[in-house]
Amino acid sequence: MRTRPLGTTGPQVSALGLGCMGMSALYGGADRAESIATLHAALEAGVTLLDTGDFYGMGHNEMLIGEALRAAPAARREQALISVKFGALRSPEGNWLGYDGRPAAVKNFAAHSLQRLGVDHIDVYRLARLDPDVPIEETVGAIAELVEKGYVRHIGLSEVGAETIRRAAATAPVSDLQIEYSLISRGIEEEILPTTRELGIGITAYGVLSRGLISGHFTADRQLSPGDFRAMSPRFQGDNLRHNLGLVEALRKIAEQKGVSVAQIAIAWVLSRGEDIVPLVGARRRDRLTEALGALEVTLEPSDLAAIEEAVPAGAAAGDRYPAAQMAHLES
Ligand SMILES: NC(=O)c1ccc[n+]([C@@H]2O[C@H](COP(=O)([O-])OP(=O)(O)OC[C@H]3O[C@@H](n4cnc5c(N)ncnc54)[C@H](OP(=O)(O)O)[C@@H]3O)[C@@H](O)[C@H]2O)c1
Repeated sequence: MRTRPLGTTGPQVSALGLGCMGMSALYGGADRAESIATLHAALEAGVTLLDTGDFYGMGHNEMLIGEALRAAPAARREQALISVKFGALRSPEGNWLGYDGRPAAVKNFAAHSLQRLGVDHIDVYRLARLDPDVPIEETVGAIAELVEKGYVRHIGLSEVGAETIRRAAATAPVSDLQIEYSLISRGIEEEILPTTRELGIGITAYGVLSRGLISGHFTADRQLSPGDFRAMSPRFQGDNLRHNLGLVEALRKIAEQKGVSVAQIAIAWVLSRGEDIVPLVGARRRDRLTEALGALEVTLEPSDLAAIEEAVPAGAAAGDRYPAAQMAHLES
C-alpha cells in the first residue's frame, strides 16, 4: 500500500482511507457482517486510515469499528489510525440539531468516543462543522489539551473556510482538513487548497464518488429509502440527476478506453491532484472496496487528464452538494 502524509505534522497514512459512515447511516441500510468483513479486508489490504463520526448512527459507527478492530489480528488492529468527527447534535429520530464546539463538550464527546471505539487514543479528532457560537480557537484549544494528555494524537478540521483554517493553525498544529472534493465538487481549488498548502495542512477528501453519483453504478431509477441522504440531495433530483448521470456516461467512455471502471477513474483523478490529498472511499461492501483500491493502480497520463477535464469540466454538476439547510452550516 502506498502512503501519503497527513500534512507536515500528521501521520503517514494509506493513500486511500476508508470512510465508514455508510456502514451505519445516511445511505439506507447496510449489512453489519459485510461491513465488518469490509473493514477487515481494508486492513488486510494495507488501509490504515479509518474515518468515522460519533454522530454516524449516534455511536453505532464507532461501536462497529470497535467490534471490527477487536476481532482483527493484533498487527492489523495496531496499524489502524482512526479519524473521528464530533460536534453534530442529533435527536433520537436522527434530526440535526446544530453543532457544539464548546471546550467542555469537546472533552465529553471524546470521552464517549474512546469508550465506544475501545481505544486509548484517537488518531485525528475534528469538529464536524464550525459552531457559530464558539470561536475555533476555543474548540481547537480543547483538542490540543486532549493531545497533551495523550487522548488524541492530531487535530483535524472539517468543512471550514480559509480564514478559519488560518485561525485554527495559529492555535495549534493541524494535520488535515476533511472536505468534499471530487470531479464534480471542485470548490476547494480556488482558495482553500492554496491555503492548506501554504500552511502544510493535508486534505482528506470525502465524497470522491459524490456519494455514489459518479461511481458508474448509480442509475436514475434507483429507489432510495426515506432516510437516505441522497433522497434529499439536490444533485440526485429529477433533471439534476439526469444531467449529472450524463457526465458519468462521458466519463465511462474514458474509463472503457483505459480498461478501468468509472469509480476508478474518479478516485484516480482525486489521487492525481497532489500527494497532500488522501481520498476517503465510502465502500461498505468488499466488492466496492476492491474496485476502489484498484484506483491506486490507475495512472492518468496528461492526455487522460485532458480528456477527463473535457468530459467533466469544473462546475459541470447540476445542483448544490447539500440541501439548503445543510449548506448554511458550510463555510467552504
Ligand atoms: N467531513 C464531512 O463533512 C463528511 C461528510 C460526508 C462523509 N464524510 C466521510 O467521508 C467518507 C466517504 O464519503 P461518502 O461515503 O459520502 O463518499 P463516496 O465514496 O463518494 O460515496 C460512497 C457511496 O458510493 C457508492 N459506491 C459505488 N461504487 C463504489 C466503490 N467502488 N467504492 C466505494 N463506494 C462506492 C457506495 O454505494 P453502495 O454502497 O450503494 O454501492 C457508497 O454509498 C464517509 O464514509 C465519511 O467517513 C465526511
